[in-house]
Amino acid sequence: AITKITARQILDSRGIPTVEVDLCTNKGMYRASAPSGTAIGMYEAVELRDGDKGKFLGKGVSKAVKLINEKISETLIGMDPTLQSQIDQAMIDLDKTENKTELGANAILAVSIAACKAGAAEKEEIMILPIGANNFTEAVQMGSETYHHLKSIISEKYGSTGCNVGDDGGFAPNISSFSEGLDLVKEAIDRAGYNGRIKLAMDVAATDLCIGRKYDLDSKAPNKSGQNFKNGEEMIEMFTKLCSGYPIVSIEQPFDKDDWEHSKLFSALGICQVVGDDLLMSNPKRIGRAIQESACNALLLKINQIGTVTEAIEVVKQAKDAHWGVVISHRSGETDNPFLADLAVGLTTGQIKAGAPCRGERVAKYNQLLRIEEELGGQAVYAGENWRLP
Ligand code: PGA
Ligand code: ZN
Repeated sequence: AITKITARQILDSRGIPTVEVDLCTNKGMYRASAPSGTAIGMYEAVELRDGDKGKFLGKGVSKAVKLINEKISETLIGMDPTLQSQIDQAMIDLDKTENKTELGANAILAVSIAACKAGAAEKEEIMILPIGANNFTEAVQMGSETYHHLKSIISEKYGSTGCNVGDDGGFAPNISSFSEGLDLVKEAIDRAGYNGRIKLAMDVAATDLCIGRKYDLDSKAPNKSGQNFKNGEEMIEMFTKLCSGYPIVSIEQPFDKDDWEHSKLFSALGICQVVGDDLLMSNPKRIGRAIQESACNALLLKINQIGTVTEAIEVVKQAKDAHWGVVISHRSGETDNPFLADLAVGLTTGQIKAGAPCRGERVAKYNQLLRIEEELGGQAVYAGENWRLP
């Protein structure tokens, strides 16, 4: 849910004030600002400017900032950030005018974009594993082609705004179920001609769905009827069904971070790789407990959760000694540093997740792997079918 909205006045590229918004949800903070033009058409939405000639030649936006901090924020706090059209409609209703003269299009747009970013960050994530490739170079080609077919499919079905990408480079169309998302990716794999050679994985990030002892699978639905709340057993049933209907080979964080019990029950079924993200927090103690209790069977390694390279290597060893899989993982906030690629090869993890083949900071890791494969030449081994235990 949206927990806080704060606006401020910043400068646009011409040195003229514009509106910037920080929108917070339980997941984090999302920032956006409004652009502005010189030519102003008669029918376009109206920018709210202070008109106080003593400040910024009348171009200040402190009124718009105040409206966001008070009226808009009051209306939107508590709303689900994935419900873009309802958030936008709430602001349009609050404005009540045809051209957005009351609140200002600059105020409304900045909030609207920030909510869009926040909403994209809430979506579950579907990944592909090109394990049928003969080498990494071919795997990148398969991933990239599938990604672009997915873009066309989403554009056809949800319009071009469905192709806006989130932090990890993934698309975030307005889907309402796991199977709706999985169908899209499956169709993209078919169109790219890689049926059978590409498998699927999901990051459920279920800690974010957990309310009490239940999981809210309708976190995007307008009227929360509570109808789509599932308990742990029902979640296990759902994952089992999804794994039989789709070529899913790995599920990350299928339950809450402290729901050891259901993670154990699900892992015991042996249907797919069960990856611990916030269950483990890359923490040796939690990993130790999970190994002991067989609460999952793969480590998601986020190196900044542990803090040094030495300790990162130690937990990878700990996981490997237990015959677990290891996924080297990016964070939603990344830099263009490609180190994770070197780490994945150096530690022979066989698995890395660095996001979609889009956005510089994601692509930096894949490009580094291309270089490493080239440098290793005949000695390079692509994990392929042996991805779990390379
Ligand atoms: P993060 O999670 O947003 O905590 O970096 C990323 C992920 O699990 O894919
Ligand atoms: Zn995760």
